[in-house]
Amino acid sequence: MSKSITFKVNPGGSLQGEARVPGDKSVSHRSIMLGSLAEGVTHVKGFLEAEDALATLQAFRDMGVKIEGPVNGELTIHGVGKHGLKAPAKALYLGNSGTSMRLLSGLLAGQAFDSVLTGDKSLSGRPMKRVTEPLKTMGAEIKTTEKGTAPLYITGKAGQLQGIDYTMPMASAQVKSCLLLAGMYAQGDTSVTEPAPTRDHTERMLSGFSYPVKKEGNKVTINADGKLTACEIDVPSDISSAAFFLVGASIAPGSDLLLKHVGINPTRTGVIDILKLMGAKIEVLNERVVGGEPVADLHVQYSQLKGIDIPEELVPLAIDEFPVLFVAAACAQGQTRLTGAEELRVKESDRIQVMADGLKILGVNAEPTPDGMVIQGGNPIGGGTVESHGDHRIAMAFSIAGLRANAPITILDCLNVNTSFPEFKDLVKRLGLDISVLEA
Ligand code: S3P
Repeated sequence: MSKSITFKVNPGGSLQGEARVPGDKSVSHRSIMLGSLAEGVTHVKGFLEAEDALATLQAFRDMGVKIEGPVNGELTIHGVGKHGLKAPAKALYLGNSGTSMRLLSGLLAGQAFDSVLTGDKSLSGRPMKRVTEPLKTMGAEIKTTEKGTAPLYITGKAGQLQGIDYTMPMASAQVKSCLLLAGMYAQGDTSVTEPAPTRDHTERMLSGFSYPVKKEGNKVTINADGKLTACEIDVPSDISSAAFFLVGASIAPGSDLLLKHVGINPTRTGVIDILKLMGAKIEVLNERVVGGEPVADLHVQYSQLKGIDIPEELVPLAIDEFPVLFVAAACAQGQTRLTGAEELRVKESDRIQVMADGLKILGVNAEPTPDGMVIQGGNPIGGGTVESHGDHRIAMAFSIAGLRANAPITILDCLNVNTSFPEFKDLVKRLGLDISVLEA
């Protein structure tokens, strides 16, 4: 196995043709979790075969769930029922995956066994108090480091959790989902109120598994009086992976691209809205609903973008897409200003700082602020060597910048592209980017 991967991108090119990007990461995680807790056999297709989702899959195998596959994105999960998980023999290692760790902390808090959750260097630096604090209010017992980070030592409190009515201080689908999973094991109702809409895949999939969950305005409520019944899951393509191509085709003259079967759940489509406000040419075609999630084909063509003030209400709906949206802003005429996005500082890397540093190396006028960035766009993008800091989306965003650069870009530390999109380099090359990969 290679220890480090460097991307080298030669400048120019355009993106042309048709592609289906891999399955949605958020939906893939949840398919394993709920499929494992269901009664009966769940079939999943379109599952994302990338490290993050595979970490969740391994965790459930470690807790005694029989899962066949993945073969070509297909899985068969032999559900053990809500109370059928077994104590893992060792710590559950979740790699780079914040979603795995935060959702599992809620699920494991109410089990009849203890567990330990660990992760890689990036995950071990990410804030976990946002889940452990409300879980403690429910009666959970979870030990973190002094800084409130992993490893998490969870003492199972089967039958002892109490429901809560919790208003989240930040718009986080991971915190919401964590508490809903804990609520499936708690006495009384557990309600979570969100300050702004966040992705609702957990709620949708719970309904798909026939588990009662109530939504009133910005409040979701669940309790322990339900069971999950196995079902069929068809995972749409990940709009967060499609985003690299939406931006790439928008900024590279001559581009014309069709992205098939992309999930367009309204809690995820901020990237389309933001790009359209910037003047992008994106058509949403053939809209349909697949397994409870809206899906469409996205047709995108080159267009001269203009700078905008990004509406704050769109921030949670595009939270994973800002690295590549900053590249769009660098290519847009005029100023783009992002505010209200302090959550970007606690993702797989500090995405505000890391993107601003890299963009500056490429000659872009990008000024980080505590909660966002101000970019003066429209000037040529230069070449240079930039650091991805092991963040998959930073690595892919700077690769896309190569389409509009006037000299080669070298991107260091790209191994973690495998956490969400192992096929990225091959696909972007087939569609028209001159990218090569150096392994050491
Ligand atoms: C996710 C929620 C978001 C997102 C992450 C996946 C999920 O995180 O950034 O990539 O699957 O619930 P937050 O809940 O921290 O915003």
